[in-house]
Amino acid sequence: MAVPFLDLKKQFAGLKAEILAAIEAVLDSQVLVLGPQQKQLEQSLAEYCQAKAGVACASGTDALLASLMALGVKAGDEVICPAFTFFATAGTVARVGATPVFVDIDPVTFNIDPAAIAAAITPRTKGIIPVHLYGQMAEMETIMRLAGPRGLFVLEDTAQAVGATRNGKKACSWGVAGALSFYPTKNLNALGDAGMIISNDEAFTATVRTVCLHGDTGGYNHVRLGGNFRMDEIHAAALNVKLKHLTNWNESRRHHAAIYDRMLKGVEGVLTPTIAAGNESVYNLYVVRAQRRAELTAFLKSRQIGSAVHYPKGLHEQPCFAHLGYRHGQLPQTEKACQEVLALPVCPELTDAQIEEAASAVREFYEAKK
Ligand SMILES: Cc1ncc(COP(=O)(O)O)c(C=O)c1O
Repeated sequence: MAVPFLDLKKQFAGLKAEILAAIEAVLDSQVLVLGPQQKQLEQSLAEYCQAKAGVACASGTDALLASLMALGVKAGDEVICPAFTFFATAGTVARVGATPVFVDIDPVTFNIDPAAIAAAITPRTKGIIPVHLYGQMAEMETIMRLAGPRGLFVLEDTAQAVGATRNGKKACSWGVAGALSFYPTKNLNALGDAGMIISNDEAFTATVRTVCLHGDTGGYNHVRLGGNFRMDEIHAAALNVKLKHLTNWNESRRHHAAIYDRMLKGVEGVLTPTIAAGNESVYNLYVVRAQRRAELTAFLKSRQIGSAVHYPKGLHEQPCFAHLGYRHGQLPQTEKACQEVLALPVCPELTDAQIEEAASAVREFYEAKK
């Protein structure tokens, strides 16, 4: 039985009639941007994230970029972020002219290590971008305690963790803002690229809303620099349909994760994810540490089982950041994770039997190698 890494066709088949009707309604109205679908989505997602407001964007990357612009981050500023994340976390910092300061991760959760943040703070530090990697929240209490007294902003990169909680409090409701991505692989996915900024801070929300519209407060009155970062109504309409299913989808991901946890427990050569006390993960990715990863990947492929590596290289070692002067060996936990992590199929559209098939294959690989 094939186990694809993602099965978006199956998701679409189940929602096709409703999504097409929603798109048709948008097209009939010819309100294509800044319309009622965006407004509804912003309100629903803000509520879902236990926050006051949402500002819809064209991507998760734009949500981060617009937030940094609204926070006034600029050349000479430093922003602390993990090196073990998707490029956009730090790429957006560099795009506003500031310097990303890469720190290591906690090897247990793969999330940014608060002790490493503390050690990296300088007089130039302007803020921190914790990433809630793979669907599990970073250690936010400690991060907020580090940031608060020093006046540093905390921008939560929640691209992989919509709906995740820590001690009952949702991702995006801790820092000044959180950035969501609705890229097709995310737990809530658009018809292509889309994202959202979520915030509890009214002044920030008002600013970032103008940043998403070229800094225009209305009537071509551009009070600051911004961009065209807004979301199309067609995406918002599709997302409004899909949002109704998000709670069930996240539950289904957790159910799949529990199957892997059970079936891979004690298998020598593979380490299942650890969810920290107080955290509830939404498992955007189910990531194990795998010995002989390349061989395992090839074996899974031979069985038509998908897998993926997020991420093979730390951002501190990316060519475009070479001028920052990091050297190999400087962030050992990041570098070790890059060699070992492997994501197994976990999306909600898969059946229990498919997840069991993938878990059995992993077990078979390691048992045959004993
Ligand atoms: C951790 C992280 N940050 C930021 C992004 C950027 O989101 P997008 O692809 O929607 O621009 C992504 C997703 O791709 C991500 O996984």
